[in-house]
Amino acid sequence: MPTPRPALAPDPPSLRTATRGRILFGGDYSPEQWPEQTWQEDVRLMKGAGVNSATVGVFAWSRIEPTPGAREFDWLDRLMDLLHGNGVSVVLATPTASPPPWMGRLHPETLPRDADGRTVWWGSRQHFSHSSAVYRRYATALTEDLAARYADHPALVMWHINNEYCTYDWGDESARAFRSWLRDRYTTLAALNEAWGTAFWSQHYSDWEEIIPPRRAQYLPNPTQVLDFKRFTSDALLRCYLAERDIVARHTPHLPVTTNFMPFWQGQDGWEWARHEDVVSVDSYPDPKPVEGSHAAGARHHALIADMTRSQAGGPWMLMEQAAGPVNWRGVNHPKPRGLNRLWSLQAVARGADAVCYFQWRQSRQGAEKFHSGMVSHAGEHGRVYQEVRELGAELARLAPEVTGQPVPAEVAVLHDWESWWAGQQDGRPSTEVDYPQVVAAWHRALWDAGLATDFAHPVSGDLAAYRMVVIPQLYLLRDEAIDRLVRYVEGGGTLVCGFHTGVADADDRVREGGMDHRLRELFGIRTVHEWWPLDAGETVDCGTFRGTLWSEELEPAGTAEVAVAYRTGELDGLPAVLRRGRAWYLGTLPEPDGLRGLLSRAAADAGVHPVVAGLPEGVEAVRRGPLLFLLNHTRQAVEFDVPGTHRDLLGGATHTGPVTLARYGVAVLREATT
Ligand code: GLA
Repeated sequence: MPTPRPALAPDPPSLRTATRGRILFGGDYSPEQWPEQTWQEDVRLMKGAGVNSATVGVFAWSRIEPTPGAREFDWLDRLMDLLHGNGVSVVLATPTASPPPWMGRLHPETLPRDADGRTVWWGSRQHFSHSSAVYRRYATALTEDLAARYADHPALVMWHINNEYCTYDWGDESARAFRSWLRDRYTTLAALNEAWGTAFWSQHYSDWEEIIPPRRAQYLPNPTQVLDFKRFTSDALLRCYLAERDIVARHTPHLPVTTNFMPFWQGQDGWEWARHEDVVSVDSYPDPKPVEGSHAAGARHHALIADMTRSQAGGPWMLMEQAAGPVNWRGVNHPKPRGLNRLWSLQAVARGADAVCYFQWRQSRQGAEKFHSGMVSHAGEHGRVYQEVRELGAELARLAPEVTGQPVPAEVAVLHDWESWWAGQQDGRPSTEVDYPQVVAAWHRALWDAGLATDFAHPVSGDLAAYRMVVIPQLYLLRDEAIDRLVRYVEGGGTLVCGFHTGVADADDRVREGGMDHRLRELFGIRTVHEWWPLDAGETVDCGTFRGTLWSEELEPAGTAEVAVAYRTGELDGLPAVLRRGRAWYLGTLPEPDGLRGLLSRAAADAGVHPVVAGLPEGVEAVRRGPLLFLLNHTRQAVEFDVPGTHRDLLGGATHTGPVTLARYGVAVLREATT
């Protein structure tokens, strides 16, 4: 008798489960803000624009549960049916980011407190303590009922848990949970006292109950306490997510679950969170204000967010929110000129997005975000914003079969870690001018300007061997495992380019002997770090081929190192600004953009890494995704340049041999023509 073959395990839920070959296109949809006759118009306009996805319920808690324990699902039933009947899939949100006012009134302990002990009241959103058991009970009860009710609804393709988990809480609920988190981490008070260095300023703890979140204090707080509080907060928010995730996953094990990240946000360890998501999604809002006639600054920001999210996802990702026009939270909120929404949407697709969605579908007429754009603006169906959305919807539908699921190859990885950010960006350090995200953005920009495709990776869990070149903009805190891996990476033939003030602290934020780990000093050929010489705002230091900014270091090289660039002025005159030992480079300063671009291009060329397309005009981006080459013009002028080979443009339909012309904000998606 032949042995029966085991049934094939179903694929784990992923973005592909929800896209089903489409690029998801749509946005947050808040029907609770509109009369039902507007819903009819909504679905007509959605169909007209090729919208195939609506994220529903994000802020609908008080509509579903107007009084404690009540359930009003009828409207949502009708809405889900309506969307389904019109070919629009639903990404259903658990509405737990904004508890109804009754909760705060009946259960004031659910409200978070700031570091000054002030209550964060209802009347806006996100007024919940991540550590409140009462909040958790209401949130999970509602999630349970929502999941049970819609598990089998044919419109449902994905779950969206909460919204932009981003709250801190310094209150008593949080203090209790913090202590329990610390007990798990350290087991004994002695270990905690040691890790926190409480011998300093008489901070020794003799009872767990003495430990509180880092609330307002007379002077600088204990840095490791602050670091642990950030670790704890990310974990506490993650527990909220997991509680709801587990419920929906039990009801619909075949459907993917996500929660949307804020872009490059301090409060959540994105690497850790991404491990618990089936789909990694993010909200990206680059500023549409042009700088010197170009939107390259916004494009770089968008590219950084895309690269980070794709790397967290390990493949296609979801642009959960972007704006079709202006936001309402900058000082001056610029709209998007004609073509820019399309350009940045296609840029996201180029960099791996299989879902292009917005906050929000229809611009609100009331509430705090009534001046935030929507896909249907106040100008309505005939407004430019909706008309452009329509055109984009048609293009995305055309691209979908060619692009979805395709990888974005990269040979360079940028190392980034949240805990280093948390430890490094505190008061009491050598310079408050150093802003970690800006340093990372400066390095990513240099790679973008050099046309080099880039991933992000975690210093411990990232697969460094997959890259020819790894760069570290700045990792002040590096764990021992990370340092060992970096050494092995270079020994194994990898090229490492490392920025200033890296490898200074261990996992407890204890300064390593010698001010920088000895394995790293050896790797880069540094005998001694005598002093750090941070620079004032706007101050630069002459390094010959470029000017250094933000920082400089008094480095004594070891005999094995080559001084690639030396300071030409001041106290450090003649000392190394850039040291090189074989394939390991160390930069003691942050070069101005062209200087950093030049250095990274040189290191990349030595490592055998080349731009996606060489010789592009300034502000033009080239990205490969699978068999496709995306060319994106982020400037306000038309450009012409050569692309070797013969290609068909999937958007314009033309076949190009050699020169390609892109209009202002123009995009071409080229596929090699088979003759
Ligand atoms: C975030 C939120 C949305 C909305 C937008 C406005 O991304 O998730 O609810 O407030 O910002 O830009």
